[in-house]
Amino acid sequence: MNTANVTETAQKAKTVSIAPMMDWTDRHFRYFARLISPNVRLYTEMVTVGAILHGDRDRFLRFDKAEHPIALQLGGSDPANLAACAKIGEDYGYDEINLNCGCPSDRVQRGMIGACLMGEPALVAEGVAAMKNAVKTPVTVKCRIGIDEQDSEEFLNTFIESVKRAGCETIIIHARKAWLQGLSPKENRTKPPINYARAGKMKAAHPELNIIINGDIKTAQETASHLEIFDGVMIGREAYQNPFDLLTEIERVIFRNEVEMPREEIARAMIPYIKEQAEKYGTPAKSITRHIINLYQSVPGARLWRQALSTLPHKPGADETVIEAALEAYESARRKSAA
Ligand SMILES: Cc1cc2nc3c(=O)[nH]c(=O)nc-3n(C[C@H](O)[C@H](O)[C@H](O)COP(=O)(O)O)c2cc1C
Repeated sequence: MNTANVTETAQKAKTVSIAPMMDWTDRHFRYFARLISPNVRLYTEMVTVGAILHGDRDRFLRFDKAEHPIALQLGGSDPANLAACAKIGEDYGYDEINLNCGCPSDRVQRGMIGACLMGEPALVAEGVAAMKNAVKTPVTVKCRIGIDEQDSEEFLNTFIESVKRAGCETIIIHARKAWLQGLSPKENRTKPPINYARAGKMKAAHPELNIIINGDIKTAQETASHLEIFDGVMIGREAYQNPFDLLTEIERVIFRNEVEMPREEIARAMIPYIKEQAEKYGTPAKSITRHIINLYQSVPGARLWRQALSTLPHKPGADETVIEAALEAYESARRKSAA
């Protein structure tokens, strides 16, 4: 292997992303996460094709250029609609278009969206092919390792073969199966056991594919060990619930980036953003501050920070000044605990 290949392999092996999460990874959280981590790939919440084609498109799709690299996750199954939305996403400047084949909620199943699509590999392949035809941007798929009783290596392999033949080169595997009936989406993220080995077998069977592993990954060390097998790691809940510790560790350990912006600087960098969003779109401060409550975790004063941000932004007329007020509350608690 020549040096160019080694570098390319090393680069390729270092994709780390924050998972698409409804209600959590909106553009405000993503802007905040990007301040902590310049290198992770970000995903939107799932946006349905119906919302894009018939809803307030700009509200669902606009994002800040600081968010790059950013992937748009689509929910849908009709190939023509998926192709139209992929093109719209590309025109908005998204770096990747991802198809959700992993969400198990009843609501989305009725619209033939999400994990139920794993039982329809031919339809998914048609959708992927239509999207690939419509855009130059990479088209990727996020799936589970199985659904309901269809929980074998063969089942997953058939699905993967099918999307691969349609031209998909990157598949994100949430390494637990989904129960489509009887479990809530929340239970579907914990109850069925995690099975990284099955995803590993898919990587071994399809070495030319980028296989990104997802599910229960919580530290940079775990990320590093998964990167020895997989082409990337996607992290969901931990990135939202513990963003600063996790993402700074990922930057240091995985991306060898020692430049760390302190928590206070990150908080203050949100001030002009909150002001701008209010001026441009009338966004209330609380829609943004709710995502940065977890900035302080497990440090003296963290409770006061969280308390301030859980109350002040909800008062009438609250604006970006709530950040300085929350920082003051945190600082005074920190000084007291140090005294
Ligand atoms: C609040 C929440 C919302 C989610 N919404 C989506 C979604 O819109 N699309 C999707 O593919 N997965 C969604 N997921 C699943 C995550 O992307 C991820 O696959 C799952 O949480 C497992 O990763 P983790 O164990 O690192 O959290 C959601 C998860 C959470 C916690």
